[in-house]
Amino acid sequence: MDHFLYKAGRLHAEEVPLDEIAAAVGTPVYVYSAATLLRHLKVMQEALTGQPHLVCFAVKALGNVAVLKLLGDAGAGMDIVSGGEYARARAAGVPGERIVFSGVGKTRDEMRMALEGGIRQFNLESEPEMEALSEVAAGMGAVAPVTIRVNPDVDAKTHAKISTGTSETKFGIPIARASQVYARAAALPGLRVVGVDVHIGSQLTELGPFEAAFSKVAALVEALREQGHEIARIDLGGGLGIPYTRSNEAPPLPFDYGALVQRTVGHLGCEIEVEPGRLIAGNAGVLVSRVIYDKAGEGRDFLILDAGMNDLLRPAMYDAHHDIVPLAEPAPGAEARSYDVVGPVCETGDTFARARALPPMAEGDLVAFRSAGAYGAVMAGEYNARPLIPEVLVQGNHFAVIRARPTYEEMIARDSIPAWL
Ligand code: LLP
Repeated sequence: MDHFLYKAGRLHAEEVPLDEIAAAVGTPVYVYSAATLLRHLKVMQEALTGQPHLVCFAVKALGNVAVLKLLGDAGAGMDIVSGGEYARARAAGVPGERIVFSGVGKTRDEMRMALEGGIRQFNLESEPEMEALSEVAAGMGAVAPVTIRVNPDVDAKTHAKISTGTSETKFGIPIARASQVYARAAALPGLRVVGVDVHIGSQLTELGPFEAAFSKVAALVEALREQGHEIARIDLGGGLGIPYTRSNEAPPLPFDYGALVQRTVGHLGCEIEVEPGRLIAGNAGVLVSRVIYDKAGEGRDFLILDAGMNDLLRPAMYDAHHDIVPLAEPAPGAEARSYDVVGPVCETGDTFARARALPPMAEGDLVAFRSAGAYGAVMAGEYNARPLIPEVLVQGNHFAVIRARPTYEEMIARDSIPAWL
């Protein structure tokens, strides 16, 4: 459930009409609903009631500091994958003991930064990385809490570019080698083994792959305990899918996911960590865009928007579907037209949808891409020298710009011309 609904014919974010935001801030613009973000966090927290747990929001999905503060103040931890995300989480006031550090390529500088600032755990992904952290921590006279991410070789049955749990991906260590790698971790100075980590992919629409992976992890925890390791935490990663269309999709409910967690790893008495990103942020954001032109093509009509692939990359990158709806509610039974919905960027891949049914649209009309809260603004860039898209947070009947659109002067000022030119 989200808080983007038509009221009196206008699409609202909570109590604020989106056209009002478009008029005040300009388009294109991302708009997030605080109530939706908090609701999704709560649903996940409640799904895990009955076992000690920490829901760590995957910052990569939506990294705006205001959003991180909102979620952090509601008790969320953070799953981060870079020094930049660490800095953002801390700037949002999230304490180090609620931050887990994931990712295959943590640098020594990033490790040092997290150890100095405070960190709950590092989720290690390889032996070279383990050696590096040992060196860095021991050199600082610190002890780094670590889990090791195992690759359970389970097919997540999702888009190939966001599937991470099979052996041909770069993620984690093969689960068959876990005993060896844990023994090495236990022997290295500066490391303290605290748990096991797994993450098999994103936008999972069935529970089966989770069940297969978590069962393997449960067996591994028992084996590791027999080998003398203290396994107090299990990090189960993120990945629970969300509905991207209003009608025909029904991904598993967080409640059923929670029951599965209880069933597969609950008996181990570990603290459970999860790292949802999309589940919390996906349907808590929309991208509002204006129609520039309605262009008649050869046997098709192009709706040219002021949002481009640089603002919302998912359709170009994953052929992802986003519902596109007009901000002005169409009359019931109103005629529909078929549009190829495209952006202004000079690439054919700058296509959001083909043959999409929409009410007849005219220049200046406003539309919203739904389900754009996760992996939207964070993946945006300035290709074609298009300013980085602004972000707005709505709570109740008020809204605030939480990232302003840069001016051309600000964009140009980031470059510098060497003296010899
Ligand atoms: N934990 C780890 C270690 C991850 O790699 C990810 C996502 C998550 C948690 C959060 O997964 P989620 O709950 O959001 O599914 N850009 C792609 C998605 C990439 C996901 C990468 N890792 C997209 O737009 O679909």
